[in-house]
Amino acid sequence: MSNDISTLEKPKMGDYKRHLLICTGPRCTENGEAQAIFETLGEKFKAAGIDKGELRVKRTRTHCFATCKSGPIMCVQPDGIWYYNVTEANLQRIIDEHLVGGRPVEELIYHRSNSEQLDTPCSMNLI
Ligand code: FES
Repeated sequence: MSNDISTLEKPKMGDYKRHLLICTGPRCTENGEAQAIFETLGEKFKAAGIDKGELRVKRTRTHCFATCKSGPIMCVQPDGIWYYNVTEANLQRIIDEHLVGGRPVEELIYHRSNSEQLDTPCSMNLI
């Protein structure tokens, strides 16, 4: 079955500087810690002034990145930075130092995409 694209409404999306993807799947955290972190993002982004404007950060839950250890884990694109052990305190550091200050939090990084390919997307299953 195919849709006639001429009849479809094109989706809209606001501009953003960075996209934060957090895994809320069942294997990198066991007790809903990642979902709980995700639910605080709107308020924390607003407090940090990154919910709109030049530094706006878009946020999305994913089902699994296939790196299911030591969560919560998250990915910041287009920077290609992957973080683990994103506790509440570590999340605040990531917001203050990386998303606002532009300096990744080195000790929480478990993977970097090639820095020359900053627009490389995460491999992910979005939910
Ligand atoms: S369940 Fe989170 S990375 Fe797989």
